Amino acid sequence: MILETKEICNRLRDDIVALAGRKSPLLCCVGFSEDGSTLSYFRSIERAANKTKIRVRKEILKDISVHDTVSFMETLNRDGDINGIVISRPIPLPLQKAGIKNIIDPAKDVDCITDENLGGLITGNVLYTPPTPGAVMEIIKEFNIETTGRNVVVLGRSDVVGKPLALLLLRKGVDATVTVCHSKTRYLISLTRTADILITAVGRPQFLKCNMVKPGTIVIDVGINVKDGRVVGDVDFEDVKRVAGMITPTPGGVGPVTTHILLLNVAKAAKRKAD
Ligand SMILES: NC(=O)c1ccc[n+]([C@@H]2O[C@H](COP(=O)([O-])OP(=O)(O)OC[C@H]3O[C@@H](n4cnc5c(N)ncnc54)[C@H](OP(=O)(O)O)[C@@H]3O)[C@@H](O)[C@H]2O)c1
Repeated sequence: MILETKEICNRLRDDIVALAGRKSPLLCCVGFSEDGSTLSYFRSIERAANKTKIRVRKEILKDISVHDTVSFMETLNRDGDINGIVISRPIPLPLQKAGIKNIIDPAKDVDCITDENLGGLITGNVLYTPPTPGAVMEIIKEFNIETTGRNVVVLGRSDVVGKPLALLLLRKGVDATVTVCHSKTRYLISLTRTADILITAVGRPQFLKCNMVKPGTIVIDVGINVKDGRVVGDVDFEDVKRVAGMITPTPGGVGPVTTHILLLNVAKAAKRKAD
């Protein structure tokens, strides 16, 4: 079964519009270059936002110093019209070293990248669900995928996807048994073959092959990669589809849900401010 996510996005869109009420919340997207992936990321946010009440403002900061970038981010924090701030990734090294992501006011950190908001995931005290891990959890919920006591193997341990996703899967009520793998993991195939649910976030085009998957496994592909000019996931979809019980497509799987959860967080931020 191929897990199409259009219905989830429609439902989330209704939630966003309802939560925004009469307000038009504003999301500010900050990029550090005009590279294709930043621009297409911002375009996809804009496209989804156009069907909601969320407004999007784009700022591309290039050829400016680290000091001026920090000052600019601080002005966004102070701007009462802005409800949420997203910065494009990867963050340039000098800005990473300056701790740019932690300059964002946690109340406006709708992408859940600040240490403060990420830390809240440990205790379940979160302002905003991190969009990509949240999208995986929405898919699990939408398709009534049982998680209690099941073996979930996550490929990837990034701060954006793998680690926060593992924490969401470990929560009481979700109750999965979670294995997180990374580039130094030994005997990877023997681990992936134990999975009832296998989630890939490695950033390697068509990395997961059918020999790595136990028949009937539910495969959720977070990866978004470009290969030979087209977008592909971390899963070799045609190969793995033959053995998987359920599988998400790329494009059209986790990605659009992620964008809608981000926008839902913006609507939540606006509501919190108004309450
Ligand atoms: N669908 C969405 O909305 C969405 C959102 C964000 C990202 N993405 C996509 O998801 C993918 C992952 O993103 P990310 O930001 O998490 O990437 P990342 O920061 O580059 O992390 C990749 C992770 O994969 C691990 N890895 C790399 N090669 C491996 C291998 N051969 N075997 C096992 N693990 C391996 C790395 O291990 P080490 O830690 O040891 O290096 C790392 O933990 C990318 O394709 C990205 O474009 C999609």
